[in-house]
Amino acid sequence: MSVDLVNRVIPEDERAAALERAGRLPSLTLDPHTMADLELIATGGYSPLTGFLGSADYQRVIHEMRLADGRPWPLPITLRVAVAPGLGDAVALKAPDGSIVGLLDVRDVYTASRPEEAQLVFGTRDAAHPGVAQLYGQGDLAVGGEVWLLRRTVPPFPELALDPADTRRIFAERGWRTVVGFQTRNPVHRAHEYIQKAALEIVDGLLLHPLVGPTKEDDIPADVRVRSYRVLLERYYPPDRVLLAAFPAAMRYAGPREAVFHALVRRNYGCTHFIVGRDHAGVGSYYGPYDAQRIFQRFRPDELGIEPLCFEHTFYCRRCGAMASPKTCPHDGDARVTLSGTKVRELLRSGELPPPEFSRPEVARVLADGLKEILA
Ligand code: ADX
Repeated sequence: MSVDLVNRVIPEDERAAALERAGRLPSLTLDPHTMADLELIATGGYSPLTGFLGSADYQRVIHEMRLADGRPWPLPITLRVAVAPGLGDAVALKAPDGSIVGLLDVRDVYTASRPEEAQLVFGTRDAAHPGVAQLYGQGDLAVGGEVWLLRRTVPPFPELALDPADTRRIFAERGWRTVVGFQTRNPVHRAHEYIQKAALEIVDGLLLHPLVGPTKEDDIPADVRVRSYRVLLERYYPPDRVLLAAFPAAMRYAGPREAVFHALVRRNYGCTHFIVGRDHAGVGSYYGPYDAQRIFQRFRPDELGIEPLCFEHTFYCRRCGAMASPKTCPHDGDARVTLSGTKVRELLRSGELPPPEFSRPEVARVLADGLKEILA
């Protein structure tokens, strides 16, 4: 199902007047997380959203994972503020560096309780959860309304900065009628590679779409990851079957709800299928390993417009001599090579490489070198 893309990027011939108008309005300064949301709304990544959620949409999203009109939308995309004196009908939106980047037509200003949102969206009020901590660091009021993007920010990886219209065009040019999207905030290890390639056996192309927006402190930085993706693709993937692009959003760590969000957004980028593996977008032990797969049952396939491809926990099995999962491997845990993200980071930080059954040696090398640079 192809969804109409929202376009809230100001037309070129209206930009000068809009910037001038914005200069005279009260302003709100966005943090990097919300700045990324603004650009994703404007370029259609968050279609059908045309702005930051107003109160009616917000309430239904947090309680039912739907917009007020009933369309699926699992995460509240809000512009939170601590105080909102005299905002009037419209406000200018400023990037973290203070430059004007957008306009917002104020529809409503409402109280959006952070503890309630935390409980409903993240399933916990625990401030040790990075998504909850991020939410608690913001104001209790939200400003809803349609936006216009007046200026693009310089993306961190310009050659990987593809808008939904771009990826859709590239898929069409390559003749891909079915495309599987892959979200990750990590390096691509053997387990990721295995499920991507398993999916690729049944679709035309793969969109490797790593998230490069804000992540929690101890996740591997995006620039190191991007180097590792490039070397992996060069050595192990057929170039005409894969497109690497950067997904600029912030990570929420909202597990199941974020899996649905990630799927809807990849639909907007033109994917027909989306991989949901073990503990998608999870953190710590807040979510069950397959909660993010089960949540899709709460929607009719035709209303999502993208098909989730669900994979069980995959690993290299020494007895099988192959990548496998509990669905395909009868051997016990001793034969299986599994490492937690924390363990891998520990290994890399101490200068050791994870074993080749876990990570391609070229990838491990890039990660170890990258972390060495950071720690130096
Ligand atoms: S995240 O963005 O979902 O947090 P992560 O890199 O951890 O990123 O996972 C990317 C995708 O791969 C998710 O769909 C996740 O469920 C899946 N995944 C990660 N590791 C495994 C594994 N060992 N087996 C099966 N699926 C996995």
